[in-house]
Amino acid sequence: MNKSKEDTIRLLLVDDEEGFRMTIAKRLERRGFVLMQASCGEACLEILGREAVDVVVLDVKMPGLSGIETLKAIKQKHGEIQVILLTGNVAVSDGIQGIKAGAYDYLTKPVEIDHLVNKVRQAFEMARMEAQKTAQLEYRTKLERKIVDTERLVSLGTMSTGIAHEINNPLAIINEAAGFMKQVISAPKPKSKLDQCSQKKALLMGIEKIETSIKRASRITHQLLGHVKKHRSQFSEVDVAALMHETLGLLKKEVEDKKIRMNWQLHRKKISLWSDAYKIRQVLINLLNNAIHAVGENGCITLSSYETLDAVILEIKDNGRGIPKENLSKIFDPFFTTKSFDEGTGLGLFVVHKIMSDLAGDIEVNSRVGKGTDFTIKFPKTASICNLEDNLSMDKDKKI
Ligand SMILES: Nc1ncnc2c1ncn2[C@@H]1O[C@H](COP(=O)(O)OP(=O)(O)OP(=O)(O)O)[C@@H](O)[C@H]1O
Ligand SMILES: [Mg+2]
Repeated sequence: MNKSKEDTIRLLLVDDEEGFRMTIAKRLERRGFVLMQASCGEACLEILGREAVDVVVLDVKMPGLSGIETLKAIKQKHGEIQVILLTGNVAVSDGIQGIKAGAYDYLTKPVEIDHLVNKVRQAFEMARMEAQKTAQLEYRTKLERKIVDTERLVSLGTMSTGIAHEINNPLAIINEAAGFMKQVISAPKPKSKLDQCSQKKALLMGIEKIETSIKRASRITHQLLGHVKKHRSQFSEVDVAALMHETLGLLKKEVEDKKIRMNWQLHRKKISLWSDAYKIRQVLINLLNNAIHAVGENGCITLSSYETLDAVILEIKDNGRGIPKENLSKIFDPFFTTKSFDEGTGLGLFVVHKIMSDLAGDIEVNSRVGKGTDFTIKFPKTASICNLEDNLSMDKDKKI
């Protein structure tokens, strides 16, 4: 019977007695194991440093590093590898000590080959189960962290859009008042007291500062309120490629000024999505703006689209400066920015995240400092249908 690759057990046999090692290795190879050999603990550790091994069969009595010392080093560096110890038949205490140090089991010499084969297979199964458990645990932790992050960002989103809404009105009043003050101060009135005031220049500078800050505050409220357009979500059939081209058209000037090369990798077939084109455009604008900023002059941005059975996927990839690892967990947080006061508010990705969760989509980022960044956005096909149903039911509710 043919064995699949996952069932092939890579075994490292460590024993200083060459004759014994060769005989056992030959027999094990005949049973389908992939064999590696080492004559001492040091050589064993060296092999483990460069080769993938599932199970180590390790003699306890060896010159140099003893079996138990080697075992401890293996467990410290390669905890996932299972170790079976071979002890002399009068040295059961070695075996017990080995199990305490993390060995899977021990066998006494002389070894019965079938017994050893069974033990190795059991140890391998154990290693496989443990690897699966670890992978499941990692996946669960990642998922839980993502849920917590999403919930946190969604509630922050709701709160901040509310605040932005409230701030907009006073902001407009301050802006108008600043404009009026500027007008009064700058107006040519030779006899006015203000005209002779030595502080006139300082007053004008103060007003300019107010105006710059208003501009920034407006950009913040604009970002936050941009995705809560006055009208309700409007779902329609969105031609993904056309929307990408149209969105890039809005940023054409910047792309041309910076001589950025645009690469298109669009799916040959037309891809459509039932979604809110306005919201997707906002996501694309933010991601493209970031990419344009990251690549600078003569950079390159690649836009791709493709679909799987259940999702439509868009990618915005740039060869810019990349995002340092320590920032990756913060980029979706509101107000996290590495840009200067006039360049960025730190709300772009926060809004993108919020929109993607509104559209039941997903966003992922991969980045390497100095190499570039790749944002992948995924729209589940079923979710767009769910959203459509939500929309329709909301319309129905409205009519009643
Ligand atoms: N493509 C990218 N390449 C490198 N860094 C990026 C990229 N996209 C985002 N970042 C990093 O993530 C930070 C947050 O991005 P975000 O879009 O939320 O805010 P911003 O671009 O700084 O400001 P805003 O979009 O509000 O004008 C950026 O300041 C930048 O450090
Ligand atoms: Mg941005």
